[in-house]
Amino acid sequence: MSSTRKAVWDISYGVYIITSMDGEKKNGQIITTAFQVTSDPPRVAICVNKETLTHEYITKSRKIGISVLEQDVPMTFIGTWGFKSGRDIDKFKGINYKVGVTGVPLVLDHTLSVMEVDVKLIQDVSTHTLFIGEVVNSEIIKDGVKLTYEYYQKEMKGKAPKTAPTYHG
Ligand SMILES: Cc1cc2nc3c(=O)[nH]c(=O)nc-3n(C[C@H](O)[C@H](O)[C@H](O)COP(=O)(O)O)c2cc1C
Repeated sequence: MSSTRKAVWDISYGVYIITSMDGEKKNGQIITTAFQVTSDPPRVAICVNKETLTHEYITKSRKIGISVLEQDVPMTFIGTWGFKSGRDIDKFKGINYKVGVTGVPLVLDHTLSVMEVDVKLIQDVSTHTLFIGEVVNSEIIKDGVKLTYEYYQKEMKGKAPKTAPTYHG
């Protein structure tokens, strides 16, 4: 492994579901690339592959829901949200969710907290887009341990698809 590969591999992440909508249609996907960029106002950034359906919906609605996943999330749940596309399946089928104040759907299953983000800045980063937005609403769903990308990789033996910025082949 080259030093660059190893160095970027050493960056820590959490694991989240981001959601968005296009009128009545809703969708979402797994990301690791979410982080807080400013405290006041509370702003976060997320990095989304241009090929995903969620990217299309965020670009149209400029609204994002974020669910912070718990450590005990089953692999099948990650499989649905992180390896399948809403172009082929309805990911919300049989899932507990609610519609937030901005109209964005918020996934509640295996979730510790949710937030709604109003997109303020869109930065093209070639294969992906960096969306930066303000957290305009939030809710604590339950107490628990957050799922980290390290736990997902080491303990759950989880992988990431090519669309993930952290893909390593
Ligand atoms: C562990 C993991 C991390 C991921 N991280 C990202 C990410 O940060 N950004 C991204 O665009 N896709 C990421 N993905 C891939 C998307 O979740 C995947 O492409 C998804 O199927 C897109 O669904 P959609 O087409 O329904 O929007 C990740 C997937 C997994 C399993």
